[in-house]
Amino acid sequence: MRNVPQSELNNLEALLLNTSGNVPLHNRFRALFTLKALKSDQAVHIISKGFRDPSALLKHELAYCLGQMKNAVALSTLEFVLTNEQEDPMVRHEAAEAMGAISSASSIPILKKYLDDSNRTVRETCEIALAKIEWDNSEEGQRHRSSSSDEPQSYTSVDPAPPTSGLLSGRSKPGTAAQSSVEELRDKLLDRQLPLFERYRAMFALRNIGTPAAVDALAAGFSDDSALFKHEIAFVFGQLLSPHSVPALLQILQDSQESDMVRHEAAEALGGIATPEVLPYLKEYMTREDAPVVVKESCQVALDMYEYENSDQFQYANGLDATQLTEAVSA
Ligand SMILES: [Fe+2]
Ligand SMILES: [Fe+2]
Repeated sequence: MRNVPQSELNNLEALLLNTSGNVPLHNRFRALFTLKALKSDQAVHIISKGFRDPSALLKHELAYCLGQMKNAVALSTLEFVLTNEQEDPMVRHEAAEAMGAISSASSIPILKKYLDDSNRTVRETCEIALAKIEWDNSEEGQRHRSSSSDEPQSYTSVDPAPPTSGLLSGRSKPGTAAQSSVEELRDKLLDRQLPLFERYRAMFALRNIGTPAAVDALAAGFSDDSALFKHEIAFVFGQLLSPHSVPALLQILQDSQESDMVRHEAAEALGGIATPEVLPYLKEYMTREDAPVVVKESCQVALDMYEYENSDQFQYANGLDATQLTEAVSA
């Protein structure tokens, strides 16, 4: 944790909260990512002040970052957000998920309470967050924590569920193990009889495999009827950054029947992939009249990220470097 002078914190706060009234959204995101990287209590307090904002996109990102910071000081704010039934469900969902990321037993009662919230996304998130806290405290979870600290980690995010572990069934012939794993994980991913937590575990295992076959298996999940489940698949595509996922993501972005949350996540993933073919779509949906606000805003932020990555600016504003930027791919 680096020591940051108070004047810099004040500056970040003013940017994040848009005190001047003319800070563009993408600059507010940049300030947020810098605060997230600090992980300090003070950074948590500043981020917590942002929940009065009208932008659901910004607020859901605040909650996501609070979870990723893994600082229990954020729990009272997150509880406040989850409890506020007037708040956008996407923001409440992210607050519940952040509690799962922080993984404190003290969050169990409130997560249990919202297991029967009127919003399906909120209910399902609470279910997964509870299973995650339980798993973290299980023998397998403890073992995983001590063994994974010495493994190289390709994804630095705190995921809502650990990848499926252990050997899959013995039906693979020698040399086809990976392929067989993809098939088995795909079956698990798509099995609606399984608890969501187990399906999420298969999702993160497929992400870690990351081959085109794994991407296809993940994309098959877009036929599900849970918006939460689908948005997480789009999120995982945003981490994988595989051009192979572009057709599936474009289909989601353009589907006006699809939930805003899923389309938003598809827009962000496309912004991360940013091959020349996707740019016209992001530009179109940034201004399209019939596009939901969170989709427009996601395209705006995604295009800004793209411009940054393709400019010769060495440092992102506010001292965020390129590595942090990659890690900052959002919730
Ligand atoms: Fe999101
Ligand atoms: Fe989310």
